[in-house]
Amino acid sequence: MGKDKLRRFEENKNFHNLYQPSFDEIFHRDYELKGRWGEHVFGNNHPIVLELGCGKGEYTLALAALHEDMNFLGMDIKGARLWRGARTALEEHRSNVAFVRGRIEFIESFFGPGEVSEIWITFPDPQPKRENKRLTAPPFLNKYKAFLKPEAVIHLKTDSRELFDYTKEVVQQREDMRILEAIPDIYRSGEVPAHEILSVRTYYESHFLAQGKAITYLKFAVDNPAIQTEAAG
Ligand SMILES: C[S@@+](CC[C@H](N)C(=O)[O-])C[C@H]1O[C@@H](n2cnc3c(N)ncnc32)[C@H](O)[C@@H]1O
Repeated sequence: MGKDKLRRFEENKNFHNLYQPSFDEIFHRDYELKGRWGEHVFGNNHPIVLELGCGKGEYTLALAALHEDMNFLGMDIKGARLWRGARTALEEHRSNVAFVRGRIEFIESFFGPGEVSEIWITFPDPQPKRENKRLTAPPFLNKYKAFLKPEAVIHLKTDSRELFDYTKEVVQQREDMRILEAIPDIYRSGEVPAHEILSVRTYYESHFLAQGKAITYLKFAVDNPAIQTEAAG
């Protein structure tokens, strides 16, 4: 392992805004912060927005700067990338930002029912050969639904037209989810994207744009009447 990576891993241990549960803490059991992120990590009950596969956390940080009255959590498995996001959040004194190192496959161990208001999935690996590994495949969407608030929203930004089309189709086939927006090329004819937040360029987005790829955006709602009843009752 490179010296730089080792140094980052060492520094990660001292970042109070980075949570790195061990495998034993989440495998077939609830992580101690499940259902308690608001109270224990952010010290408030503001809505929590989750970025999955956040890499260096560009979206988590940009969203947090725009919405100081909300909490943002970036999740990824790669510690050296999370180091960048966590460090920037500390340098910018962003108390509404935290990062968590973990596998999205075990996400049900991390969040309780109705704990998260919104999810961003930014440039996930498109997994052309392994549908079940795609972060928008039905088994993943079912896992997310279990911890999303009623009428939560999921955003997918990707350079993969295949993943965009696939996700759109998956959502259209479900009765509990609805497409809200589907933009096949956010920079069409050099225009500025329709929403300011779509202008944020992650590390991977810059790389894909340099290759001349179109960047797509999909936004869909998740109806969650079970949680709604629970919350209302
Ligand atoms: C292509 S990169 C995109 C990173 C960042 N969102 C960006 O746009 O620059 C995909 C990211 O997802 C993370 N990732 C992929 N599969 C994952 C999984 N199952 N659990 C957690 N992180 C995962 C990778 O570590 C990587 O940082």
